[in-house]
Amino acid sequence: MAAPQPALSPSPSMDHYAVIGNPIAHSLSPAIHARFAAQLGEQIEYSALLAPLDGFRAAARAFFDAGGRGANVTLPFKMEAFALGDGASERARIAGAANVLARRDGRIEADNTDGAGLVADLRMNLRVDLRGARILVIGAGGAARGVMGPLLGEGPSALVIANRSVDRARELARRFSPNGVVAACALDDIPPRDFDLVLNATSASTKGEPLVLADSVWRKGPVAYDMAYGPAARAFVAHATAKGARACDGLGMLVEQAAESYLLWRGRRPATAEVLAALRAKAA
Ligand code: ATR
Repeated sequence: MAAPQPALSPSPSMDHYAVIGNPIAHSLSPAIHARFAAQLGEQIEYSALLAPLDGFRAAARAFFDAGGRGANVTLPFKMEAFALGDGASERARIAGAANVLARRDGRIEADNTDGAGLVADLRMNLRVDLRGARILVIGAGGAARGVMGPLLGEGPSALVIANRSVDRARELARRFSPNGVVAACALDDIPPRDFDLVLNATSASTKGEPLVLADSVWRKGPVAYDMAYGPAARAFVAHATAKGARACDGLGMLVEQAAESYLLWRGRRPATAEVLAALRAKAA
């Protein structure tokens, strides 16, 4: 087990933020927030904190006790982050998970900007109109649950959840059926609809496992979106492109959820296009 990292002592003049996860070394969040702060002419400190797998709560508490103003939380701690909050936003409660913590008046508030980040990337960067769209969500775990509310809030005409274990898909569909037209099916039994958006919310990409989908999924030439980014998304993006989709990884979602976090913490939403372009250029 990795030794807990001591909370960094923030410099007294700067507001201190962090991303907490395990692993964390390759997180792009410090670079993204440094660019946001520079763009807005603000001075902040933003660190990456590795928490032991059994030590998220202690690491987060130590960070806030040392004066930390806010934290992003990444895998595998998003559900623990939700539980840690003294209060939670409605969207975090719906997701049952938090990717943002903010200290306000001595309380820690849990929020979830993942879904808003995905919708912002689809709308603003990829120019996808979700109103009236037919959406296929693949996967029924935490990542899918975190984005369902904001996706349905855009008013799609139908949303189908396909999952390897159909029971989990059904459970998720039941949970969100008050929010829109939601159906569930097994991964090998996807109905032949003309989908406008195919969203990969499984952990298959991250684990390097192939995702086999019926050809009918690609019939309309949909937008295909992998919520993972970088090498983890490559196989899905390549497969979808070969099938005629306009395919994209989740780097834009990462930048947009970060901008939403910055807005929550500091009341200003940074412009994202130049930050995303710089990260894409670096990755290429
Ligand atoms: P996360 O929080 O990242 O969503 P999770 O809750 O463990 O993680 O969920 C992982 C999702 O990826 C599930 O929908 C899982 O399918 P099952 O519910 O059937 O396990 C899906 N998944 C993982 N590996 C997969 C694979 N090789 N093929 C298809 N689906 C996969």
